[in-house]
Amino acid sequence: MLLVSSLTPSTPSLSSVPSPYADAVLGWYSVHARDLPWRAPGVSPWAVLVSEIMLQQTPVSRVLPAYQAWLARWPTPAALAADPAGEAVRQWGRLGYPRRALRLHETATIVTEEHGGELPSTREELLALPGIGAYTAAAVAVFAFGRKHAVLDTNVRRVLARAASGREFPTAQPSAAEYRLAESLLPENDATAARWSVAVMELGALTCTAAAPRCDECPVTRQCAWLAKGRPAAEIRPVGQTYEGTDRQCRGRLLAVLRDSREPVSQARLDAVWPDPVQRARALDGLVADGLVDPLPDGRYALPA
Ligand code: ADE
Repeated sequence: MLLVSSLTPSTPSLSSVPSPYADAVLGWYSVHARDLPWRAPGVSPWAVLVSEIMLQQTPVSRVLPAYQAWLARWPTPAALAADPAGEAVRQWGRLGYPRRALRLHETATIVTEEHGGELPSTREELLALPGIGAYTAAAVAVFAFGRKHAVLDTNVRRVLARAASGREFPTAQPSAAEYRLAESLLPENDATAARWSVAVMELGALTCTAAAPRCDECPVTRQCAWLAKGRPAAEIRPVGQTYEGTDRQCRGRLLAVLRDSREPVSQARLDAVWPDPVQRARALDGLVADGLVDPLPDGRYALPA
């Protein structure tokens, strides 16, 4: 069995070593891929960016309607940049982590003013834009512009941790060695490498899941180091995020009041949606500090101008 962990980054002929997973995963993807709108041929780079930002913390089923509505309203960065930032926060609705909406608006403004309205195509230029981190920069460079990079989201990282490294879960953050491993597994051809990245992502989302991997349906069982070891359980398990009762839930309630009102709202209307005054004040301060809410001189609150 060819174990990928034996392909060390310093192996000189690394790029010529065929990935032990590529054919099986690409074949599986051609049968099992979900038909998702951001994967359709000819989707604009802006649409790919919107999808990747929305998908960062939110399941596909919740992203789908939000993605369609966002792009129907703002099909280009210039269209979004022409509206106030508060409209982006309003349109974001209940997707959660609404700072993503503000960052997308800032990015749309920079792209419009400094890049002639077109998203830049290199990972480095994308990384310089607000709200675009290492994952999103690589994903857009690869999926929208056909460049060749490893695209390491949580699903890809989990598949590679299991199949190549024999561990149930990846570490909290990818190491340089993990990037090198992921790059060593990219197929030679740029377009095939892009398809491989989305295929591994899909395998992690549908089959090699965090809680209940379906190894009996997996295309790489014969090459999987974790399965070969008898699927040892990780000592440290990823913890699920709680929402009920958190500041995040409180922020969501406060922001919903502002989203649902065309007018600025009074303190009393905000007070009505969360019982604990200390937590409510902390959450509101946080929203103001993040630029998601504007305090007005008359004591009321509004979405940002
Ligand atoms: N296709 C491309 N990028 C994706 C992502 N982040 N999640 C799900 N499907 C995708």
